[in-house]
Amino acid sequence: MPILAIETSCDDTCAAVLEGGRILSNVISSQGIHEQFGGVVPEVASRHHLELTGPVINQAMSEAEVAIADLEAIAVTAGPGLIGALLVGLSTAKAMALPGRIPLIPTDHLQGHVAANFLESDPVEPPFLCLIASGGHTILAGVRDHQGFETLGQTLDDAAGEAIDKAARLLGLGYPGGPALERLARDGDLDAFSFPVAMSRDPGLDFSFSGLKTALVYLCRDMGESAVSERRADLAAGFQHAVVDQLVSRVRRALDRDDWPLLALGGGVAANGPLRDAVAALCDERGIPLKLVPKELCTDNAAMIGSAARYAEKIPFPEYAGFDAFARGAGR
Ligand SMILES: Nc1ncnc2c1ncn2[C@@H]1O[C@H](COP(=O)(O)OP(=O)(O)OP(=O)(O)O)[C@@H](O)[C@H]1O
Ligand SMILES: [Mg+2]
Repeated sequence: MPILAIETSCDDTCAAVLEGGRILSNVISSQGIHEQFGGVVPEVASRHHLELTGPVINQAMSEAEVAIADLEAIAVTAGPGLIGALLVGLSTAKAMALPGRIPLIPTDHLQGHVAANFLESDPVEPPFLCLIASGGHTILAGVRDHQGFETLGQTLDDAAGEAIDKAARLLGLGYPGGPALERLARDGDLDAFSFPVAMSRDPGLDFSFSGLKTALVYLCRDMGESAVSERRADLAAGFQHAVVDQLVSRVRRALDRDDWPLLALGGGVAANGPLRDAVAALCDERGIPLKLVPKELCTDNAAMIGSAARYAEKIPFPEYAGFDAFARGAGR
């Protein structure tokens, strides 16, 4: 029987219907309103989720040709994320599930990014090493089963996506900055500027991106507005290269430490072309397979939440009525 999955942890309103690991529908409505603020405004995101959840869920159900009575369960992101945004999805899921006594599956958003790799048509099986790089997190995850992961390393300050978005903003690009920065960087010389290598004396698996961001702020200030606008492509290429370099260097270390049979990526930054090329080269060198999901399954979507929910605890009616969302930390 199919599962309906709902994801509203940030600024994308998402719903999907899955039958096992097969996606029957996957609807994503990006709010497109936050660009003018240069980042997501939590209260605005919540209000837009309120308006969009109904139409987005209806579209996902009708594309999948599924009625509420057909559902085995409703999966919903319980956290981490913006608490107001999460509550809209969770309340909607409860309101849909309670009348028909349908079970609810509260799902962890980060496990969702990992579980995008379990979706058909090319699912992978644990164990594998997974780099999760998104707007709010940068984690090297040791995945040994379908239910969760061990954090092997994580960012000590900004997330990779957050740093990229801030750099994009400094260079006059819109939000989200990743795709725009990647496009601009294509015309740039990645060696034209040198950016600091974070934690170069630390042989661990943690990340740090705030120094990189500060270096760009000072560089732009010292260059002045007109020089920055002339050299935007070089600055974008250098910055993006520094982020990718750090991500790949930690993956390399993790592969040196343990015998992982496969590498997978997850999170919005995993859509980045130069990152995908760099991990492909690394996997080639190591002789291990690389799993890359399509770019639309890297950024937030509900199919990945449905995928994680297949392996998560199903809460029976009416026990989930009082279940709450969580803004931070692991949900299990
Ligand atoms: N092509 C790309 N290159 C680099 N970064 C990208 C690309 N596409 C998207 N991103 C970045 O991915 C991030 C969004 O990813 P995602 O939707 O997974 O994040 P999030 O859900 O906001 O954060 P989290 O998953 O940590 O809660 C943004 O920072 C965006 O700039
Ligand atoms: Mg995400």
